[in-house]
Amino acid sequence: MSTITYTKPPHPREHRMIFRNIDRAGWDPSIDCYLRDGGYADLRKALAMQPREIIEEVKKSGLRGRGGAGFPTGMKWTFIPPNNTKPVYLICNGDESEPGTFKDRYIVHQDPHQLIEGMVISCYAVGAHTAYIYLREEFPHAALLLEQAIDEARAHGFVGTDVLGSGFDVEIHVHRGAGAYICGEETGLIESLEGKRPYPRIKPPYFPAALGLYLCPTIVNNVESLCHVKHIIGMGGDAYSRFGVARNTGTRILCVSGDVKRPGYFEVEVGKLTMRELLYDLCGGPKDGRAFKAVIPGGSSSKILRCDESFALRQPDGTARDLGFWDIPLDFDTLAACGSMAGSGGVIVLDDSRRISWVLNNLNAFYAHESCGQCTPCREGVAWMRKISDRLVSGEAAPGDIDTLESVAYQIDGRTICAFGEAASWPVEAMIAKFRDELVAETRAEAAAVPHNPEAVAQRRFLSCANS
Ligand SMILES: Cc1cc2nc3c(=O)[nH]c(=O)nc-3n(C[C@H](O)[C@H](O)[C@H](O)COP(=O)(O)O)c2cc1C
Ligand code: SF4
Repeated sequence: MSTITYTKPPHPREHRMIFRNIDRAGWDPSIDCYLRDGGYADLRKALAMQPREIIEEVKKSGLRGRGGAGFPTGMKWTFIPPNNTKPVYLICNGDESEPGTFKDRYIVHQDPHQLIEGMVISCYAVGAHTAYIYLREEFPHAALLLEQAIDEARAHGFVGTDVLGSGFDVEIHVHRGAGAYICGEETGLIESLEGKRPYPRIKPPYFPAALGLYLCPTIVNNVESLCHVKHIIGMGGDAYSRFGVARNTGTRILCVSGDVKRPGYFEVEVGKLTMRELLYDLCGGPKDGRAFKAVIPGGSSSKILRCDESFALRQPDGTARDLGFWDIPLDFDTLAACGSMAGSGGVIVLDDSRRISWVLNNLNAFYAHESCGQCTPCREGVAWMRKISDRLVSGEAAPGDIDTLESVAYQIDGRTICAFGEAASWPVEAMIAKFRDELVAETRAEAAAVPHNPEAVAQRRFLSCANS
């Protein structure tokens, strides 16, 4: 097999499976290029298997969703009701809206056939004859590339009626969203796909695998997750499960942004790399003259970790284990045990030049803008959090404001229709718990005497103009 060369060579600690063709020298997104590299052989193999055998391989592989929650993919697929008589749909979630995450865009831009192959195999496994790729508005070129790739796949018999003479029919459609974070949430996405406002649905009863698109069973999976399916079929579930560590198998793409010398994407075996190795070896350490302060490990919704923290963990055998921040292996279970999450793989790094109040306000501004407004704790609470952190960064907050901010966050958390409530409140809860002294130091005792109310100020200004 010829050696692959890259225009941007991977780090030696990387294991390129999904990103094998990303930034590969001489690679282009056409089907000819994909076929020259052995493309669609895994689909042929899959079509010779029974659908339930494919689901078994995916279960054996241990694959966990790469979109955020880390839910086991094979298990999700078995939630389609066994006596179902309605059509089944597959949706590829290409919204990639979680701040700090920038992996799916490379797949859809540079290797669209890998995704299409993974999707057709997945459709065959779950019995779906119609699939959608929901793309965020900001990827217009990807939409064109994907449509072209679907046409090419149809012309070669990989999509359409009687795929490769197997008797299996499948169509894939590209659907572009209008650019809202909440369209990444699977039930909001489904509403949007149905042509409505993306108001998330309540679960239960609207678990997509049972009551999804048009109230039919629907499997929603992330772009990267669906690409893994192709490789699982190629090598077999057992072989795949040997990558990574127990319960956290395979590879995943980490997107590192912020205060490191070498930000970028890195595909690594899950759990085989520690925080220290990621930030120092792969990312080149902190910028000159700076020190690392904190990391948001799994996209903006995950709880921040301080670089000087340590964690008392309980191991599966019941014994206790102390783990320092730098020794955290980057897997789903350990990050959860440390009080955060692996999420979407977006690692945001902050050095000692960053004010936590600014970071917190930046996130509050994002979430206040993106709340769909359907439920009161989120719609009102996230806007209140933003107002308080606005005051904080402009030096107008009183010490008591930090407690108010914390209390608002806890009143959103767990009281909303969808997980956006947690996505918005967890960062606030964690930043206050871990950086309270720094935040309080930015407040002013005198500020308590002057209630800050930007609307009232604007209204007074308007009235004084109107009366003059
Ligand atoms: C507010 C919010 C935004 C989300 N955004 C995305 C997204 O952009 N892409 C994605 O794949 N999953 C996103 N998710 C997770 C999806 O709801 C869903 O769990 C995921 O697409 C399932 O795919 P997986 O099992 O392959 O991870 C989001 C969830 C929430 C609560
Ligand atoms: S939690 Fe927020 S985003 Fe989710 S449904 Fe409620 S208002 Fe909408």
